[in-house]
Amino acid sequence: MPRTRQPLILAIDTSCDDTSVAVTSGLRVISNVVASQTQLHKQYGGVFPTVAKLAHKENIEPTIRAALRGARCTAGEITAVAVTVGPGLAPALEVGIRAAETWARTNAVPVLAVNHLEGHLLSVLTQPNSRSPEPPREPDDAALFPALGMIVSGGHTQLLKIRQVGRYELLGTTLDDAAGECLDKIGRMLNLGYPAGAAIEELARTGNRETVTFPLPLTHQKTFDFSFSGLKTFARNYLEAVSEKDRHSSQFIRDFCASAQWGVFRHILYKAQRALEANPEIRSVWLGGGVAANMQLRTLLRQSIRDVDKKNPLTGGVKRRLLVPYCKKLCADNAAMIGVVAGLRGDALKDENLDRQPRMRL
Ligand code: KG4
Ligand code: ZN
Repeated sequence: MPRTRQPLILAIDTSCDDTSVAVTSGLRVISNVVASQTQLHKQYGGVFPTVAKLAHKENIEPTIRAALRGARCTAGEITAVAVTVGPGLAPALEVGIRAAETWARTNAVPVLAVNHLEGHLLSVLTQPNSRSPEPPREPDDAALFPALGMIVSGGHTQLLKIRQVGRYELLGTTLDDAAGECLDKIGRMLNLGYPAGAAIEELARTGNRETVTFPLPLTHQKTFDFSFSGLKTFARNYLEAVSEKDRHSSQFIRDFCASAQWGVFRHILYKAQRALEANPEIRSVWLGGGVAANMQLRTLLRQSIRDVDKKNPLTGGVKRRLLVPYCKKLCADNAAMIGVVAGLRGDALKDENLDRQPRMRL
């Protein structure tokens, strides 16, 4: 009897400053190519939308070819195209959407419209490619759901209750800057380049986080919302009051990075722990987005989950699990997570009239 093959999806993400194309099959990542524009935008200290659009236009075709080559498959083997339609920069989204439409028309396959945030949320479910013909296991409902979803990136900071794949309830979101954006802005004050999250993590390893006490925002509110702009202002004011000599001392920079990173993470952990305590039926925590690459955040979050386990144990003493993407490349923007969403949601995402949705919500 011929073995039924899993659909093979060509996924495209051009939501911000990375042109990414992947080939996925179910939860498996067969190839995942990212053409980064970081060097291009470094000079602006942020992403410049029209520059991003031009770079996406230049990169998209070669990136599609590289993803197919990496997956060792031909265009004829692809069964659907998945593309990010939002949220993101409108001119950047446009390039991916048009490329997906053209590709789908030429190859007579359907297009699936994916929300970039759902990509980050479900990125923890991705699995590496393997030669085994067995399809990877679907998410285990009894062990994982409901779950607490945490999207922590340069554009978003959100807490969601995941009842099932496709059924999400927003618990809290940032009222101003995102966590990664806050780290990037503090990094800029210290001349660490853009984006600065990874550089801050590295410097913080040898710094003392107790050196500068950052405020803990929104503790008076019972909501699970975030606010990072006060931390940024606190950093600026503190640095302005420090002498030029101290400001350039290597130990001061390390201590300040450790303190600022702890300030940002303490706020995230405080709200995540409150959300877990208010929803004691939650069985797992899913952490996605660029900031999820940070090892210190993962360690601290595991500790917070253990604290909740002690206070509010699940029946049978089952421990709540922390899920993170299987490699760091899947924390940052990438098309593999878009393909995996399309693989899980399938026809529910079919869209004949694709349009960019820069402010799309989950
Ligand atoms: O998910 P992402 O690539 O793009 C958005 O969708 O926003 O996230 C980028 C953000 C940047 O703010 C960057 O500084 C941050 O993720 N980031 C990190 C680390 N690596 C990237 N933040 C903290 N620690 C890291 N290791
Ligand atoms: Zn993103």
